[in-house]
Amino acid sequence: MSFHSQTSQPKTGKASRPTQVTVQSLLRKKQQGEKLVTLTCYDYTTAKILDQAGVDLLLVGDSLAMTVLGHTDTLSVTMDEMLHHTKAVSRGCERALVVGDMPFMSYQIDHARAIENAGRFLQEGRAHAVKLEGASPFMVSVIDHLVQAGIPVIGHLGFTPQSVNTLGGFKIQGKTIEDAQKILNDALLLQSAGVGALVLEMVPHPVASIISQQLRIPTIGIGSGNGCDGQILVIDDLLGRYQDLKPRFVRQYLNSSDLVTQAVQQYQADIQHGRYPDNELEAYPFPDKVFDKAPELLFQAICGEEPAAFYD
Ligand code: KIV
Repeated sequence: MSFHSQTSQPKTGKASRPTQVTVQSLLRKKQQGEKLVTLTCYDYTTAKILDQAGVDLLLVGDSLAMTVLGHTDTLSVTMDEMLHHTKAVSRGCERALVVGDMPFMSYQIDHARAIENAGRFLQEGRAHAVKLEGASPFMVSVIDHLVQAGIPVIGHLGFTPQSVNTLGGFKIQGKTIEDAQKILNDALLLQSAGVGALVLEMVPHPVASIISQQLRIPTIGIGSGNGCDGQILVIDDLLGRYQDLKPRFVRQYLNSSDLVTQAVQQYQADIQHGRYPDNELEAYPFPDKVFDKAPELLFQAICGEEPAAFYD
């Protein structure tokens, strides 16, 4: 981190805080035909960059189990781990809506635990909403309880990663008329239960378009085509950092793995060849200039003896 690059507030007048994105403003965007720009995010520094770039919504996705923690699916991440990252993302955001993704088993057991855990995302994590997967009758009743408790909820249908074992792998959903109808009916149920927006993951694009047209609330697609009201990608996929999986729908905007490798190799070469750090620019001089021209005197002053090297 460069301490020199820290900016200070202008001396005259306060910097104005950008207008906070809300679940209501997401809905207004849909009504005005404006697409929602959303991404996952897991840390403070990235959150600050994405927030300032104008991303509408940052999802602290349970995908962090895979991208940050190195698990093979999303099931192992805990409430405490999710909260740890949600707090960091919230600290980096002034404008974006921060959504905490409720991890596996934090909302499936009973209503009380679901409300308590969702509440922790808002109270401790400073998120503005939570996301949870599915539309079973139990899940719809959980959503109903959360909404009544004043907790904004985002739904998630199509491929729901926490059900990877039930779905038999990372598979496209809604490929038959019956399955597509089921997703549409579930989407309508979630809308009635009060979700503010709906993630549609890996649904054939014509199906996702129809669902988006049928809903009043905005849909946020991932692998579901451009008929959705907005899009989300995992930030590590967009930046080309996560190498373990590369789904068809990912568009990689940066090859940061290669760029990081090149930068680190350059750093390594600079250290090995004595080019880093440059003492004139990247180190601190001794304040007393008297010693500048006679470093042996500084050695003597500090060590109490003359440096052996000067006798060689
Ligand atoms: O956890 C996650 O990253 C998600 C997105 C894929 C929507 O749920």
